[in-house]
Amino acid sequence: MSDILVTGGTGYIGSHTVVELQRAGYTPIIVDNLVNSNAGVLDQVEKITGVRPEFHKFDLCDSEKVNRFVADHPNITGVIHFAAYKAVGESVQQPLKYYHNNFFSLINLLNAYAGKSVNFVFSSSCTVYGQPDVLPVTEEAPVKKAESPYGNTKQIAEEILAETAAANGNYHIISLRYFNPVGAHESALIGELPLGVPQNLVPFITQSAIGKRGPITVFGDDYRTPDGSAIRDYIHVVDLAKAHVAAIRLLEEGNPAGNYDVFNIGTGKGNSVLEVIKAFEASTGVKLNYQIGPRRAGDVEQVWGDVSKSTRELGWKAELGIEEMMRSAWKWEQYLKDHPLT
Ligand code: UD1
Repeated sequence: MSDILVTGGTGYIGSHTVVELQRAGYTPIIVDNLVNSNAGVLDQVEKITGVRPEFHKFDLCDSEKVNRFVADHPNITGVIHFAAYKAVGESVQQPLKYYHNNFFSLINLLNAYAGKSVNFVFSSSCTVYGQPDVLPVTEEAPVKKAESPYGNTKQIAEEILAETAAANGNYHIISLRYFNPVGAHESALIGELPLGVPQNLVPFITQSAIGKRGPITVFGDDYRTPDGSAIRDYIHVVDLAKAHVAAIRLLEEGNPAGNYDVFNIGTGKGNSVLEVIKAFEASTGVKLNYQIGPRRAGDVEQVWGDVSKSTRELGWKAELGIEEMMRSAWKWEQYLKDHPLT
């Protein structure tokens, strides 16, 4: 089966996708500069699958290195492009860092495949919808002005990809719009490794539960939602990883919808922050300390996805529920306590 380039393959979603690609019979080849990940993840993947993925450490902003890598790997038929900066707050402080990294890496990769036929899967985000007018949000919903430079890099990257595919039929591209990925591999050998204080809800919950952090602050309980806290569509990272395998397969078969397509990748269900806290307590038996704080700037009130297009056309559906997401995230946090990876 085919070789698949996985950029950012030692990261959180990337590492789970490498495992699922290997399980599906593909040969993932990782390129990562390790700026927000750890080479120890390669050992962990090998423990899960018995196969150590080929790994190259370099920065995709270096076009010469990208071109050389692509020339040296003629058997690669597909690219899954995860490598990007993703911290919303930091992107507001340092927009150029985000525009430079997220665009140069994407453009260098696309340029390196000019004149070749390539299947390309891009990590996009439901952030492109902002606060949708209609829920659940479908892929046809209008893209709203981005709340942050990070969100803007996703919107503009989607435009770059759509225009590139329209201009050149050799590029076969799918953008996956992720909702909120959480949880960890059932083996607890790979999971999310946040740098510093976690900005995202679930890593904060698990670090608070294990005693690394103080109480959780619920950012706002005065939203127009049943319990007042904000609602998101949380998706298990293993389900999300499998969506990438499904996208590569669809591109290999020839996507009848054309050479640029977009899919929502979520569960189709929303959970509030307070529901997530309760689900964690119920599925792990661990009591959490939390307090209510003010809303966080830039947060939308509620968003969850319509996933009928993914079910129908990608042949993919999320299988794991919120309890499994919480249980696996907690198992991973406990594993990390005894086996620190950083
Ligand atoms: C956002 C983006 C997502 C991006 C991600 C990267 C949207 C809809 N989503 O996710 O595209 O990939 O950032 O960081 O814009 N919360 C608390 N207390 C905490 C942490 C979070 O109450 O300590 C709440 C947030 O206010 C939010 C929910 O938990 O309502 C989820 O937050 P988070 O995990 O940070 O993800 P998003 O902000 O939804």
